[in-house]
Amino acid sequence: MDIKQQVFEWKDQHHEKKLYCVIGDPIKQSKSPLMLNEAFAVKGINAVYGSFQVAPEQLGQFMEAFRENGLSGMNVTIPHKLHIMQYLDEIDADAKALGAVNTVVNRDGKLIGYNTDGIGYVRSLKEEAIAHIENKKIVVLGAGGASRGIIYALLKESPASITVVNRTLAKAEELVQSLNTSVSLLVAGQEQLELICKDADVVINTTSVGMYPHSEENPFQGILLKKGAVASDLIYNPLLTTFVLTAADQGAIPHGGLGMFIYQGAYAFEYWTGQPAPTDRMRAIVLQALQS
Ligand code: ATR
Repeated sequence: MDIKQQVFEWKDQHHEKKLYCVIGDPIKQSKSPLMLNEAFAVKGINAVYGSFQVAPEQLGQFMEAFRENGLSGMNVTIPHKLHIMQYLDEIDADAKALGAVNTVVNRDGKLIGYNTDGIGYVRSLKEEAIAHIENKKIVVLGAGGASRGIIYALLKESPASITVVNRTLAKAEELVQSLNTSVSLLVAGQEQLELICKDADVVINTTSVGMYPHSEENPFQGILLKKGAVASDLIYNPLLTTFVLTAADQGAIPHGGLGMFIYQGAYAFEYWTGQPAPTDRMRAIVLQALQS
């Protein structure tokens, strides 16, 4: 069945409700429907959140269907975060600067794009690991899309410095040069990781090293963090990576990636509904699904 027909039939099944969804390719593994349907239910909002597998060549058609059926909002995941922008009427300044949209709001027929990944990460870091990032020294491992999003959000917290460490140094340099900031933004090669981590306050892994099914891998193998530093990972499967667990054993504060997922969804919910998201209930249901 073509994608427009799928959206049409889905709307037909739920015609009395507000409609939200996530699109991606692949999408089957996404916990967003579980998390956001729980949020709508807890808040008594008459809405349903679905998911659509949308291949890159179907994106234009899907967006036509989105408008024709008056969907209220959506989340956007890999591989559409960049290409979605051409189909929107307006893009929030931060999402534009980042070059990626993960949340779309339909405001009276006008589609507006936001990015809640970076702010979701920072909210999680501050609520779960370190309340104040101001004047802290931060090390970020990795220089891809995820790294860019969180660095952009971290810069707004006025840290003392952010050092980007990457296997491919040129990519770290490119990333740093593209960001306009008064914060000290530095780059370093992987061979300097040990030295740089020694006096960092927050060390963040944004690479996929250590993700299931390669959970035994640790991109910080043999590296010691300062006592009381935060060891943070964007990965949430496993909930705590070998990097985070090892660092915690040596006195670091552990911070896993689940909170980022919860809060990027919470911000999306808040943009859509104007109401505070029930984050405890959202976390509980996702945690339960991940552990079953
Ligand atoms: P994402 O959008 O998840 O950030 P990405 O844009 O492909 O994905 O970026 C992946 C990042 O993880 C890159 O910084 C990559 O390093 P390179 O720029 O050198 O490719 C890093 N990365 C991935 N696998 C890695 C590994 N095995 N060791 C070290 N770094 C790795």
